Amino acid sequence: MSDIIVIRNLKKFFGEIKAVNKISFEVRAGEVFGLLGPNGAGKTTTIKLLMGLLEPEPNGGEMSVFGLNPEKNEVEIKRRIGYVSEEPLIFKSLTPRNLFNFIASIRGLDEGETTERAKEYLESLEALQYYEQLIATLSHGNKQKIQIIAAILHDPDLLIMDEPLAGLDAKSVRVVKEILELHTQRGGSVLFSTHIMEVAQELCDRIGILNKGKLVGIGAIEELRQQSNKLGENLEDVFLRLTEQDTSVEEIVKKLRKSYKKRIKEEMI
Ligand SMILES: Nc1ncnc2c1ncn2[C@@H]1O[C@H](COP(=O)(O)OP(=O)(O)O)[C@@H](O)[C@H]1O
Ligand SMILES: [Mg+2]
Repeated sequence: MSDIIVIRNLKKFFGEIKAVNKISFEVRAGEVFGLLGPNGAGKTTTIKLLMGLLEPEPNGGEMSVFGLNPEKNEVEIKRRIGYVSEEPLIFKSLTPRNLFNFIASIRGLDEGETTERAKEYLESLEALQYYEQLIATLSHGNKQKIQIIAAILHDPDLLIMDEPLAGLDAKSVRVVKEILELHTQRGGSVLFSTHIMEVAQELCDRIGILNKGKLVGIGAIEELRQQSNKLGENLEDVFLRLTEQDTSVEEIVKKLRKSYKKRIKEEMI
């Protein structure tokens, strides 16, 4: 299988913070690749670098998308990508109808056909009733649905989605999963990020585990599962250990309570 995205030794620092620290991975044609990691791991920074949304340029490393250089072939690359950003939708003063018509016009799609498809997606995500409602007035989850539909209307070769399932109910997650499957069946690829292990396990062919800007594990879900079985652990435990999140919640809560009680006692004296 050919590689759709190739990232080599990519770096991005914000002052002292090494947000992305020399990571390398590829996304292959027809696969769903998940970037999995806790808050602050560097997922959004990696995605924004790929989308050319971060200034100044990366601190080091190379990227290619469809074999092209994102710095030199931005227009060609963007034409073939659908992007779902972490923050839901900037077009808040539009209705979904306005937005989808706008997308049809800038992407050179047939307006009637695009409307029909958009409505079909809206219906499958139980959001058709918001077709004429201002996006600003929609709930986070419904904005997210509109954003996902907006990203797939032109049948992109590559979908890049930053925490696309955040705020979606279980039923919609199931529908989005189906949409991604149909997309990969026709040869499309997906790069998406999540901080939730089960989501990665459910949706991805391969995952890269990010922690503090470093890629600490990479592989097919099944491979990772077998490796973790050998270690006598499940995949969730391996993920938590690799990302240093294995301090139990009970311990954290106990510590919080102790310090709170101490403070209250001191205030009473
Ligand atoms: N514009 C910025 N300026 C300074 N620090 C940033 C900026 N963007 C991200 N960071 C820092 O980089 C690290 C990685 O952030 P991010 O890529 O958003 O993580 P994730 O998406 O995995 O939660 C964090 O420590 C974050 O605070
Ligand atoms: Mg993020």
